[in-house]
Amino acid sequence: MPEAPYPNPPPALPRPPSTARERTQLEAFLVLRRNPLELWGPAAYQRDVLYGRFLGREQIMLNDPDAIRHVLVANNENYGRNIGTKRVLQPVLGSGLFLAEGAAWRHQRRTVAPALAPRTMPILARHVVLATEEAETELDRVAGGRPVELLPHLQRLALTVAGRSMFSLEMAEFGAGMRALLMRYARRYAQPGFLDLLLPASVRSPLDIGRAAFRAEWLRFVDGLIDARERQAERAPAERPPRDLFDLLAAARDPETGAGFSRAQLRDEVATLIIAGHETTAATLFWACYAAAKLPEHQERIAEEAAAADLSPGNAAAALKGLRYTRAHVDETLRLYPPAFLIVREALGPDTIAGRRIAPGTVVSVSPWVLHRHRRRWRNPDGFDPARFLPGAPPPDRYAYMPFGAGPRVCVGAQFALTEATLVLARLLRAFRIELFGSGTVVPRGFVTTQPDRPVRFLLTRRAH
Ligand code: HEM
Repeated sequence: MPEAPYPNPPPALPRPPSTARERTQLEAFLVLRRNPLELWGPAAYQRDVLYGRFLGREQIMLNDPDAIRHVLVANNENYGRNIGTKRVLQPVLGSGLFLAEGAAWRHQRRTVAPALAPRTMPILARHVVLATEEAETELDRVAGGRPVELLPHLQRLALTVAGRSMFSLEMAEFGAGMRALLMRYARRYAQPGFLDLLLPASVRSPLDIGRAAFRAEWLRFVDGLIDARERQAERAPAERPPRDLFDLLAAARDPETGAGFSRAQLRDEVATLIIAGHETTAATLFWACYAAAKLPEHQERIAEEAAAADLSPGNAAAALKGLRYTRAHVDETLRLYPPAFLIVREALGPDTIAGRRIAPGTVVSVSPWVLHRHRRRWRNPDGFDPARFLPGAPPPDRYAYMPFGAGPRVCVGAQFALTEATLVLARLLRAFRIELFGSGTVVPRGFVTTQPDRPVRFLLTRRAH
């Protein structure tokens, strides 16, 4: 039987207001731009499959495990990334792993996956602990009884971990510039405009023109990162950075053509992995801290567990399996606040989903946000209850809980993210008691990832050991 260490019934944490009725197309478009998490009405959380039409395209949204498996796994070759996703992400991710398709995707995936596989986790764990120690010192300095906005600290920490562990790069020099560029892009271009969704892929939308100009600036920035990494590699052999993901990418040869990655491909790969590798994990950590602050009893459990573990750089990977409450807290955070709140595909050819014929061009979506709060898939769907994920609890259905997606395009960094989030949370809550500062509800907002709708400040108090 699972242990029940938490209050019963588990409390619900804030979510955006939901609509009592289905929305008109215009309303849906406006909501999509304001906060996509407000898009879905009650039916979305109750039905298995939803059909609709939006801006002239057939839409189908899946909550049914078999239908999800069909699209993301069994017949995944019939489903590509949709035009909205490509328009928005291509200027920053280019043809890196996230957007690559066909043979190019297979080659990239085979090159990148081994560097992020479970056996590499001890190296990652070491980087995570060292970077978290630095973040703790910084938090000591800035907090000192004053409220602190945690999210930027968590973003910096996740960026440091991504830069060091994948590319042996210190991000202190680049972090602020990179985040400023990404924020500018997100504010201006990350939400699809009307014409982005309406125009065929071959026609540039007005926003695409600004996006192209941004891409030129962005590529110069990523070039600077790669130059720094290459300069580092040229220094005295003794100082040569360890064999990392960058080395693997630079050494990879296409199995069919024998060609290496060009500079342009290398740029897109580095950009993809750095962005995908830190933004989502930082959002997870933010919501995990937020939930811990709202639920002090949960927080104390984690702090106790972390205090009993040896979380030193050399031992952290081995200590992970003892961090069951911390990990369950992270898993539950990923259920209620999945950073990737929407997974979208476009049908390339005709198919049948859940007994219904669908035409090429149909937009098929699975929303981890909706699925993870679905009335038929979860008991007390809105309640924050990490006990669901403790050892001994019945595991959730593979296609009812999927913060990292599923099938061949499942997140390549899932292990990386879980290791990092669990260790950072354990270290932070071992070091500090975290409370929310001020009143006011924090509403999750779908803005590239699941973000708080406003800056959120916390009071941090050093724990005595
Ligand atoms: C909590 C953190 C994370 C979450 C919630 C997350 C979520 C996801 C999801 C849902 C997908 C699948 C998208 C789809 O099927 O359309 C995905 C793909 C991907 N993720 Fe993550 N991710 C996280 C962390 C990471 C990290 C740490 C890295 C890199 C180190 C990473 C790199 C990628 C890449 C490259 C892809 C594309 C894979 C492919 O298409 O083959 N992610 N992620």
